[in-house]
Amino acid sequence: MTITVIGAGYVGLVTASVFAELGNKVFCVDIDEVKIANLKKGIVPFYEPSLGEYISRNINEKRLFFTNSYGQSVPKSQIVFICVGTPPKENGEANLTYLFSAVEEAAKNLKGYTLITIKSTIPIGFEDDLEALVKKYAKTKYEFASSPEFLREGTAISDSLHPDRIIIGTNSKKAEKMLLELHAPLPGERIICDMRSAQLIKYASNSFLAAKISFANALATICERTGADVTKVVQGVGADKRIGHSYLYPGVGYGGSCLPKDVLAFIAQTRNFDYDFELLRAVDAINNGQVASLVNKVRQSLNLTEKQGKNLAGVEIAVLGLAFKPNTDDMRDAPSIKIINSFQDLGAKVTAYDPKANEAAKKILPDIKYSDDLYEAISNKDLMVIVTEWPEFAEIDLEKAKKLLKKPVIVDGRNIFDAKKVRALGFSYTGVGR
Ligand code: UGA
Repeated sequence: MTITVIGAGYVGLVTASVFAELGNKVFCVDIDEVKIANLKKGIVPFYEPSLGEYISRNINEKRLFFTNSYGQSVPKSQIVFICVGTPPKENGEANLTYLFSAVEEAAKNLKGYTLITIKSTIPIGFEDDLEALVKKYAKTKYEFASSPEFLREGTAISDSLHPDRIIIGTNSKKAEKMLLELHAPLPGERIICDMRSAQLIKYASNSFLAAKISFANALATICERTGADVTKVVQGVGADKRIGHSYLYPGVGYGGSCLPKDVLAFIAQTRNFDYDFELLRAVDAINNGQVASLVNKVRQSLNLTEKQGKNLAGVEIAVLGLAFKPNTDDMRDAPSIKIINSFQDLGAKVTAYDPKANEAAKKILPDIKYSDDLYEAISNKDLMVIVTEWPEFAEIDLEKAKKLLKKPVIVDGRNIFDAKKVRALGFSYTGVGR
C-alpha cells in the first residue's frame, strides 16, 4: 500500500518506519523544513534506540520518503495517518490546532478514495468536527478511522512490531478491511469498534497505567509510615495474575508527554459529559505529592527540619537523571523539573547529570550546572539524588562515590540500590517505601 503519515514526531516517525519496514511505500510529511531536511539525511530529532537504523534502511530501500509537501504525498496514498501532537492547554484540555490544520491540508489534497486514520490522541467526540472539516474541502470519497498508538518511548520500535492489540475504530467495512490488511504482518489482538470507543480505549489505557503507578506510590507512603517494605508488597500484589507486576513500581511519579497529559485530559473531557472522575483526580494528586515527598526526604537525610525554614540554602545537590525515564532524552513533564525547581526555591545549588538529556534539559532548567560525567557531578556535593533509573547509575562504584561526596548521603527516588548493601557501606540511604 502507499500511505502518508502526517507528523514527524515520536508516533509519526515510528509509524512511518514500521509500515515502511513491512514493505509499504510511506511518505512522512511535516511542516518543519529543518526537521524534514535532517530526516532525509537520516538524522532523527530525538534519541530513540534503533529508530535511526530503521529510517536509514527504509530511505535507502526507497520505501520511506520525507517531504514538506502534502501535494506530493497525500494524492498518491490510500491511507493517510494523522500523527500530529495534541499537547495540553493550561486547563488540561488538548490543543487541537495542529490536528485541525493537518486534517485540513490532507483534505485539500485527497485524490481517489482515501482512508483518513487518526493516530493522534484526540478528545472523545471530536471526530465529528474533523469529518465536517474534511467535507468542506474534499473533492473525492473518503472515510475515517481511529487507530490509537500504544508505543512507549525508549522501546518504540519493538512495541510497534509486537503490539498487544491493534485498535480499528471505524464504522466502514471497507476501512476495516484496509486496516486489517495493512496490519496483517503484526501480532496482537484485533479490536474492531467505533471511533469513540477507540479514542476512549487510548485515554483509559494511559489513565489505568497512571492509576497503577499512583497506587504503588500510595503504598510506598504507607510502607514508610508502617515500616513495611514496598518492594516486597508490590511483588506480592503483582504476583496475582489478575493484577500483574508492570506499572507497580513506586518512584518520583509518572511523567512524559502522555500519562500526565492524558489523565488531565480525561478528567476534563469526562467533566464535559457530566462525570466527575474523582478516582483520576486522586491519581493526579498522588502523583504531584511524590515531588514534595522526595524534597522532604532530602531535608530529613541532611537533618534539616521544616522548622529551620524549609531551607536548603548552601546545600549542594547532585541530581542523577533528568529525562522522565531511561532510554530517552525527552524532558516533557519530567518529574526532575519540579524536583529541581523545588530544590532551587529552597536555596540549594544543583548539579545535574543525565546520559542523554543534558542538552534538552538546558532549555528548561537553564540555571543549574550540568556535568558530562557522573563522578564529576557528585564530586564535593552534600548528597546525590537519583531521579531517573538509568542502568549506569545502578552500576556506580559506591566506594568511589563515598570518597567524592562531601557526605555519604543518597536519596534514591527510583529504588535502584540495594538498601542493606548501601547502608553497610556507611551511606545514609533513603529510598521510596522501604
Ligand atoms: C505511555 C504508555 O505506556 C504508552 O502505551 C502510550 O502509547 C504512550 O504513553 C503514549 O500515549 O504515547 P511513555 O509516555 O513512553 O508511554 O512512558 P511509560 O514507559 O509508560 O512511562 C511513563 C512514566 O511512568 C515514566 O515517568 C515512568 O518512569 C513512570 N513509571 C512507569 C513509574 O513511575 N512506575 C512504573 O511502574 C512504570
